[in-house]
Amino acid sequence: MDYVNEFPILKTGLIYFDNGATTLKPKRVLDKMNDYYLNYPSNAHRGDYTLSLKASKELEDSRTCVKDFINAKSNKEIVFTSGSTESMNMAIYGYFYHNLNKYDEVLITKAEHASNIVPWFDLENKLGIKVKYIPLNDDYTFSIDNLKESITNNTKVVSIAEITNVIGDTRDIKEITRLCHEKGIKVLVDAAQSAGHIKIDVQDTDVDFLAISAHKMLGPTGVGVLYGKEELLNEIDYKKGGGTTISFDSPKEIEYKELPYKLEAGTQNIAGIIGFREAINYVNEIGLDYIEKYTHDLKKYLVEKLSKLDNIILYNENVSGSTVAFNVKDVFAQDTAIYLDKFNICVRSGDHCDKKLGDELKIKNTVRVSLYFYNTKEECDKLVVALNNDKILEESLGV
Ligand SMILES: Cc1ncc(COP(=O)(O)O)c(C=O)c1O
Repeated sequence: MDYVNEFPILKTGLIYFDNGATTLKPKRVLDKMNDYYLNYPSNAHRGDYTLSLKASKELEDSRTCVKDFINAKSNKEIVFTSGSTESMNMAIYGYFYHNLNKYDEVLITKAEHASNIVPWFDLENKLGIKVKYIPLNDDYTFSIDNLKESITNNTKVVSIAEITNVIGDTRDIKEITRLCHEKGIKVLVDAAQSAGHIKIDVQDTDVDFLAISAHKMLGPTGVGVLYGKEELLNEIDYKKGGGTTISFDSPKEIEYKELPYKLEAGTQNIAGIIGFREAINYVNEIGLDYIEKYTHDLKKYLVEKLSKLDNIILYNENVSGSTVAFNVKDVFAQDTAIYLDKFNICVRSGDHCDKKLGDELKIKNTVRVSLYFYNTKEECDKLVVALNNDKILEESLGV
């Protein structure tokens, strides 16, 4: 399929392989946002005139769209945030901070993004909880057996990504949650890399909290979602006071509004939230089953080609997913990215905010290709040709 009409930047010959950082934005998402700014640029939930009522309706329709996208029970369970990072922080500081005690244990893995590590370390310092790592398999993937062995009587939370951002393996959230709930353990899922790639069904998996970033699935930056079961969200104490959150504002008598409004202080990113709805519509039209299969097949194709090159070290070649982590022998990852940029190929290099994964890989920095449905085999071929070239080593050595 040809996507250049929706993603005009692709006409320039750009090869965009950094979808794990953020995806391209389709024109229809931008048109939808512009429509708001040009035709009903008013605040939501604050006006009694037609334009404001329209803005409120569009915003709430977007909430319903997100609710359906992840099959939540009700719109009350959908809180708009600025992104996965804020969603994770809201769950960790707003709920777990108030519900964990000294010596309670939180299980994460060394393949988690910083937003699922840093707040927990902070709680370790503040509360005396213990953050423990579920060991990874030899190929850096997650295993249910390792989870079972890691759980102790003190385990209170398992906090993990559904799909990790470097290795790219998909964790079986339903089975993880089943196991955890049997033992009264809460489950927080970082779905930043899985939303828009695989189907999410929070009722089926029964997760307690789940975080999403719009911009990693065709939507705008600055929009995210915290899903939480209603009774848990209701307990959140996230100390962000402001408009929308309260019913009346006498200093002594603060009466918080119902969910989700009590957690959405201030004017929301209205255009962004409306744009996110259009992104979800587009993803649904392309089809999540199609996206998952297409990107996994494309990864296999790329891995097959790269594994034939003598100068490439692959880190996750046998993992089913849509990311390829690699290095060029004797070349610093960032030099590889700068070299590929000359071919109009965008890849990510560095530790990818996975501050602990380097312990496992025994190397801190890697190059990451992260694929989405608009990437093609032809683009992969061009990457392989660019990498199969002695110049890359010469340039990195400054020869
Ligand atoms: C697995 C994972 N979690 C969380 C985040 C944070 O997302 P955001 O920067 O949109 O808040 C990212 C971003 O790369 C990610 O890959």
